Amino acid sequence: MAFQQRAALLCLFLFLHAWNVRGGVEVTTHESVEVYLGDSAEIQCRFNFTEASAIRNFFVQWFVKDKDSGSRSRIYYGKYNTVDIAVDDDTEYSGRINVTLDQHRTQLTLQEVQLSDEREFICQVNGVSAGAEESKTHLRVFAPPDAPVIKSVQSGISITNEMPSKVATCEARNGFPKANITWYRNNMPLVPSAGRVNVWTGDTVEPNALYSVQSTLEYLVVKEDQNANFSCEVSFFVPGAIRTAESSSVGITVYYPTTMVEVWRESPKGLVKEGDTVELRCQGDGNPPPSFIFSKIEEDSVSVDLESRSNVLMLQSVTRRDGGVYRCRLRDDDIQKGDMELSVKYLDPAVVVPKESEVMLKGEDLIASCNALSNLATSTVWYKDGRMVGRGNTLHLQDATYETAGEYLCEVTVPELPSLHTSGSVHIIVHGGPQLVGDEQEVHLEEAVGRSVNLSCEARGHPAPSITWIFVGSQSWHEVFSKSSEHVTRSVVSVAVNSDISAVCNTSNDFGIDVKAFSIKAIPLVTSSAPFSPAEGSGVIIVVIILSLLLLAILGSVLYFLHKKGKIPCGRSGKQAISKEKTAKDDIVVEMKNNGNGKSEDAVLLKAVNGDKNGTSEQ
Ligand SMILES: *[C@@H]1O[C@H](CO)[C@@H](O)[C@H](O)[C@H]1NC(C)=O
Ligand SMILES: *[C@@H]1O[C@H](CO)[C@@H](O)[C@H](O)[C@H]1NC(C)=O
Ligand SMILES: *[C@@H]1O[C@H](CO)[C@@H](O)[C@H](O)[C@H]1NC(C)=O
Repeated sequence: MAFQQRAALLCLFLFLHAWNVRGGVEVTTHESVEVYLGDSAEIQCRFNFTEASAIRNFFVQWFVKDKDSGSRSRIYYGKYNTVDIAVDDDTEYSGRINVTLDQHRTQLTLQEVQLSDEREFICQVNGVSAGAEESKTHLRVFAPPDAPVIKSVQSGISITNEMPSKVATCEARNGFPKANITWYRNNMPLVPSAGRVNVWTGDTVEPNALYSVQSTLEYLVVKEDQNANFSCEVSFFVPGAIRTAESSSVGITVYYPTTMVEVWRESPKGLVKEGDTVELRCQGDGNPPPSFIFSKIEEDSVSVDLESRSNVLMLQSVTRRDGGVYRCRLRDDDIQKGDMELSVKYLDPAVVVPKESEVMLKGEDLIASCNALSNLATSTVWYKDGRMVGRGNTLHLQDATYETAGEYLCEVTVPELPSLHTSGSVHIIVHGGPQLVGDEQEVHLEEAVGRSVNLSCEARGHPAPSITWIFVGSQSWHEVFSKSSEHVTRSVVSVAVNSDISAVCNTSNDFGIDVKAFSIKAIPLVTSSAPFSPAEGSGVIIVVIILSLLLLAILGSVLYFLHKKGKIPCGRSGKQAISKEKTAKDDIVVEMKNNGNGKSEDAVLLKAVNGDKNGTSEQ
């Protein structure tokens, strides 16, 4: 409290005392003066003489009254207009009071008011001939208490208690006079009422003679009180007013029984699949949180208790057998319980029929199936060589060809739970006779004599066909490439073209034979219109030479015959002709050499002359 305020209230006159008029003097004081402990108090006393003679000859005395005995003792005596003005020695007020006195007024000033100063102060005026009169003032002392301190009960309070329970205590220390304590719940005053609200108050006197007041609130707690705020308020008198001070607010712990138990799956969110770790939680609406027992309801309603940690049940790496109804119940009350159903989704490995591999004959049909057991809808897709070839759990393979052969992969997925998937496969083998690759059954080729040509033959079939070559017209061939895989065999032969050739590629396996025919037309080296070229012309020259030699031989024989018969006269001209032809032949040979572009040309010529002897030796 501000000091100025105190000063203003220092001498508060609550009621003017009734005038005491008797004889020749009237005395007035205030009925009471209120003052803070430790402050100074001023007690005024006014008086009036009706007898003018008394104005110059009177005296004033101040008394205090003992609270207990009621006896009075003087603390001051003063005679007007003399030096005989004195505070009495050896009283409890000696040294603590000052008194002023004039013709109509006396004022007693009391320093450092103490609690014991709360008593009556009496002002007595004695006008000698006019007689004596007095009036009293009750000095009241006030000490505001410390701020109230509230303490709530730390333990929980059960709503099942039938009588009000102690909720909190409140204390306001060091006040004077005794302060009052009022209780509040959520800022609404709590009025004592039987069976619901009890307030017990008490007080103690401190060594300094101030009062400390205590109050205990007993209250019938309801569930809503768990969120309520309790506070206390102290109200106390101060000079001229009533003041209040409020404590901080406190909450209480309310205990109430569980009326409902809830069990739920905390994780994983969404569908549960085999292998997941599942966390179930249980919660009741009671306080304190009760202790739970988890159990699983097996068939025939048999419940099997499970080990759990407080309100959490962990199921590690669940399987489909972990699916079912889980129950959570109070450890000490079988009635309150909660159930939940856990469904564990699964997808078994895919089973493909036929298993692993299957042999089909060409042209046959087959239905393959792929099944994976699941308690969710599945989707099956078939792939071959990375391409999708079918949907659904069956795959129809119709009219098998060698293209049908291969690895078929089925992938089973669960659209609702993409992390579940499996796959299986079947290897299809197609058995059948050889089937040549390429449209033509017969291949016609042309190639210049002396060149070589590659003949290729590729056949599909299972078991892989073997390839044999049969050549007519040439022995000069050899295989340059050969490859055989599960379903296909390929062979390439290089053949030297000397003359027209026919060849047969004979492919066969256990299931049959297929043949492919090749005919190669050999093209002579020389063409008539073309300018002379040793490579092309050599054949022509050979033919011409041979024909010339033949003609000469015939001509020679005829001439010889005629000569023997004598039909033709023998002359030098005939012999000359023969030798001339020979020279011509030599000339041609020489000319060839002269015109030669290199050794190869000579070799070709010689080879041509010598016939086809080298062909076989090459093989
Ligand atoms: C305290 O309570 C009493 C009884 O109800 C009342 O008379 C008095 O005025 C109260 N005092 C204060 C300071 O409120
Ligand atoms: C024939 O095949 C072989 C091997 O593939 C190759 O080296 C050669 O050049 C081919 N010959 C012709 C005339 O195509
Ligand atoms: C092709 O080969 C098979 C097996 O070697 C043989 O039985 C068959 O006679 C051959 N066919 C021809 C046309 O040579």
